[in-house]
Amino acid sequence: MLGRVNHIAIAVPDLAMATASYRDTLGAKVSQAQALPEHGVTVVFVELENTKVELLEPLGEASPIAAFLEKNPAGGMHHICYEVNDILAARDQLSASGARVLGSGEPKIGAHGKPVLFLHPKDFFGTLIELEQV
Ligand code: CO
Repeated sequence: MLGRVNHIAIAVPDLAMATASYRDTLGAKVSQAQALPEHGVTVVFVELENTKVELLEPLGEASPIAAFLEKNPAGGMHHICYEVNDILAARDQLSASGARVLGSGEPKIGAHGKPVLFLHPKDFFGTLIELEQV
């Protein structure tokens, strides 16, 4: 079912500071910040040879990462995104095996313009999983 790691997302309390840290301390290639109001985050992409890291800062009142940052004020790994070929087939297979798909269970268009679903972290060892159809 799972293909490549598409990205690893890290929630951060201060995007400018996190960007500077990845760029200057870790020497990584980082993008400009992009506001994604429909997703409630501002994001910076850290471009690596084999994948990318997304630094996420809350945007707006109802940001989906606000509660996470309340519990993890210094920031932390928020989710890992795996690629799948057929997101509906993946969802059906996961649901049949008892894994919980978050929300309505219908894929939404994610930050990269592709269909995504999220899986409950309690079903996967404390890690929120995003599936993205590629
Ligand atoms: Co993501």
